[in-house]
Amino acid sequence: SMAEKGGYKHFMLKEIHEQPRAIADTIRGRVLPDASKVVYKELGISFEDLALTQRIYLVACGTSYHACLIGKYMIENMAETPVEVDIASEFRYRNVPFEEGSLFIAITQSGETADTLAALRFAKKSRVKTLAICNVVGSTASREADGVFYTHSGPEIGVASTKAFTCQIVALYLLTLAMAKAKRIFTADLYSGFLRHLIMLPRMAEEALKLEDKIMELAKEVYRKQNFLYLGRGPLYPVALEGALKLKEISYIHAEGYPAGEMKHGPIALVEEGFPVVFIVSDDLYFDKTLSNMQEIKARDGFIITISDSKDEKLKKLSDRFIYVEGINTYLNTVLFTIPLQLLAYHVAVLRGCDVDQPRNLAKSVTVE
Ligand code: G6P
Repeated sequence: SMAEKGGYKHFMLKEIHEQPRAIADTIRGRVLPDASKVVYKELGISFEDLALTQRIYLVACGTSYHACLIGKYMIENMAETPVEVDIASEFRYRNVPFEEGSLFIAITQSGETADTLAALRFAKKSRVKTLAICNVVGSTASREADGVFYTHSGPEIGVASTKAFTCQIVALYLLTLAMAKAKRIFTADLYSGFLRHLIMLPRMAEEALKLEDKIMELAKEVYRKQNFLYLGRGPLYPVALEGALKLKEISYIHAEGYPAGEMKHGPIALVEEGFPVVFIVSDDLYFDKTLSNMQEIKARDGFIITISDSKDEKLKKLSDRFIYVEGINTYLNTVLFTIPLQLLAYHVAVLRGCDVDQPRNLAKSVTVE
């Protein structure tokens, strides 16, 4: 009914709009009110274990796998610790030779995904320390892992994951900062600067949601397209993957996410007049590189949709449609830029008459192999 959807037409839309609250709930109790410190006992892993971790394995399926990819950029850059990311159905059969000091992290909204559980069990059997980043309290993953970091997204009903994903990113950001601190990589100032950014996130997510009218207009222009390409670099590459997955899952439009720098090795062959390419680009070290990728698409008359926190004139001129999103920092922008992409997928799917909350052939959690 409309009532259980909080007045929204679909659970997915309700859950997209719940993100500022869900993020605040995931942060609450884990950062001191003055933003000076992470509260270690709320992370599912101790200060000592974080300090001793030499290598991290991040393993998941679906949207949770995209959170793992974002985690790799965060942990390697900020906590200076090597990270391996894998899809659970691959990892479980790979016979990974773990080294001393490894930490295995399973990311799973439901805590019941069969492949993710098998990967977790393999790590446990190998006597590696394990942590689950999980949303469902009391789920199998939360019971079996040595420690659990609960995202407090609240129940997610829509099959396509939205608020669980952005809260997984928040969890990884907190773990990264805690690890950087435990390893004495961050000065107190740097550390509390990044924490102050995090505390801004719920309010900034609220701002990003205000783009909905603009996104609806865009959806009307593009909902009949057959194919989409999503491109980004660095931490925004997994955001491109997630944007494409959301569209594919609920609108059945073929969509591909790619690292922008790799497009010349394949996807550019698809680009012809009017071919929609969504660029996710931030005012960071990748900016100029992505701009030159945009020029390549422009030269082939592709239809460029840009999601960015930059107001650069060249960027705007290259874009056929430009969605400005207020940013915070390279890592947290992954959350803020995901929001308009979720809204785009949602509104395109509605215009195409698709069953948004129950897309064909998909399940909320895949408990068989
Ligand atoms: C299914 C869902 C996805 C989800 C994936 C992993 O494919 O449709 O939305 O991302 O499972 O689920 P998990 O509960 O392990 O995060």
